Amino acid sequence: MSISHIITRQDYIDRKHTGDKIVMLTAYDAAFAGIMELSGEIDVILVGDSLGMVVQGHDTTRKVSLDHMLYHTEIVCRAAPSIPIIADMPFHTFDDPAEALKNAEALIKTGADGVKIEGNKAEVVRRITGGGIPLMGHLGLLPQTAVQFKVQGKDEAAAEKLMNDAVELEKNGAVAIVLECVPRSLAASVSAALRIPTIGIGAGPDCDGQVLVLHDMLGLNHGHLPKFVKQYSQLGELTRNAISEYSREVKNGTFPSDSHSYH
Ligand code: KIV
Repeated sequence: MSISHIITRQDYIDRKHTGDKIVMLTAYDAAFAGIMELSGEIDVILVGDSLGMVVQGHDTTRKVSLDHMLYHTEIVCRAAPSIPIIADMPFHTFDDPAEALKNAEALIKTGADGVKIEGNKAEVVRRITGGGIPLMGHLGLLPQTAVQFKVQGKDEAAAEKLMNDAVELEKNGAVAIVLECVPRSLAASVSAALRIPTIGIGAGPDCDGQVLVLHDMLGLNHGHLPKFVKQYSQLGELTRNAISEYSREVKNGTFPSDSHSYH
């Protein structure tokens, strides 16, 4: 069991120096956040706007609102009080710097330790970090604005832009940067160039940490899975089996048995 307390920018930088990988995982509800709290294995929880897809059933993260994020972040913070929590800022909630700071402050008020935003909007980043809020960047594939879900930064110009964005995010006070769906070699170069850690998802093993969407890694999704997802469990199948057995036992009268009855 490893207890970490990575909250401030200096905490993230110090952790990068140790060489110990940062273990980040998404959570959206009290059941799973509580399991993470008990496990003692998770360094940072991300309340991702991926909840739009894996919890709300949309095919996009764009329908997630600030109110949805406030609701889920507060639940996760209550269930995992000792794990640092980053809350995603949903689509269109950080278009304008003043609005972005106000919305980030609202997420912090629910108990989050920091926020994550997609892309490199320098003025917005400066306003949020200048307001004393730990901000995690997110480069590469940006689900809120992506037209096609494919590997990013493959040609020289795109790789150079991603590197410049990463350096600028660091300069403007980001605590860490999520790199999503970028070639392993580019992620390695960005990680080597920065003082702050990178956290990869589909970015290879040379990042300073990794993140996955909980429902993907637990086998709870029935749709298409990207190449970078490793399933550590088959909870979807286990749940279907449990439901079938329950249904069979209710129908044939073996549930509830006498031991599940009051006398
Ligand atoms: O919303 C999310 O879960 C994310 C991860 C994919 C990094 O942003």
